[in-house]
Amino acid sequence: MANTTTNLKTWTTSQEEEDRMVTGHMHHWRTMIEKVQEKDLRSKTILDFGCNQGGFIQMLYHTYPFKKAVGVDIAAASLAQAARINAHLPIDFYPAADLDLLNDVFDVAFSHEVIYLLPDLNAHAKLIRSVLKDNGVYYAATGCHIDNPAWPEWHKAISEYSNIPVPNYSLDDYAAAFANNGFRVEAQQFKSNGFIVAEPDDKVYYPKLIDKLNYYNQYKILFRFTKGV
Ligand SMILES: C[S@@+](CC[C@H](N)C(=O)[O-])C[C@H]1O[C@@H](n2cnc3c(N)ncnc32)[C@H](O)[C@@H]1O
Repeated sequence: MANTTTNLKTWTTSQEEEDRMVTGHMHHWRTMIEKVQEKDLRSKTILDFGCNQGGFIQMLYHTYPFKKAVGVDIAAASLAQAARINAHLPIDFYPAADLDLLNDVFDVAFSHEVIYLLPDLNAHAKLIRSVLKDNGVYYAATGCHIDNPAWPEWHKAISEYSNIPVPNYSLDDYAAAFANNGFRVEAQQFKSNGFIVAEPDDKVYYPKLIDKLNYYNQYKILFRFTKGV
């Protein structure tokens, strides 16, 4: 793949916010990985769409080692950091635009909290369809959707630090985009495993602790999209 660059350095306006995602998301990456049905990835090629600093794909490798992986993102500084941190692993990192050059490459694809930021879900589903092999599977997790009652406040808060516009999708919008592009659509509540950490700055997203517990139990969703042939 051509190693082109993007204009965006980082998705968020603050490096602190970027770095916080790494530690903040680890627990949820672990849950997502535990829910993957394909447990033997040793002969598989993997995609992480919106890989940020490469933490998820590194954790996946250490849990279920894979043959090869590609992480893509629109943020150049995040990709550079991902490449540095994962230099010893069979993972390449590229600008997301370079995916257009690939066809029928990946067995399993992932995105964790990325699809809610995409400007065109139909185009995304089409792209994932073209890069997946037949019967390939795409796991996409998000709690950012209008069926989450806290979404109007979250949308405001996220828009304040996002360098790109934040759309307003429903769960049915995500499902329809993939169904319309020939995928079998499955979903489950994410239900993060183990204890959820109560953090000092939670109040922006969760006025009460019960709101945080309910969010991970109810509103954060894991989709499993299977490419039909
Ligand atoms: C909320 S962060 C999640 C990052 C990572 N998946 C995680 O779980 O920590 C969203 C990520 O998606 C990336 N992103 C946003 N729009 C994108 C696009 N159109 N194509 C690829 N990546 C995108 C951002 O740069 C950012 O790294």
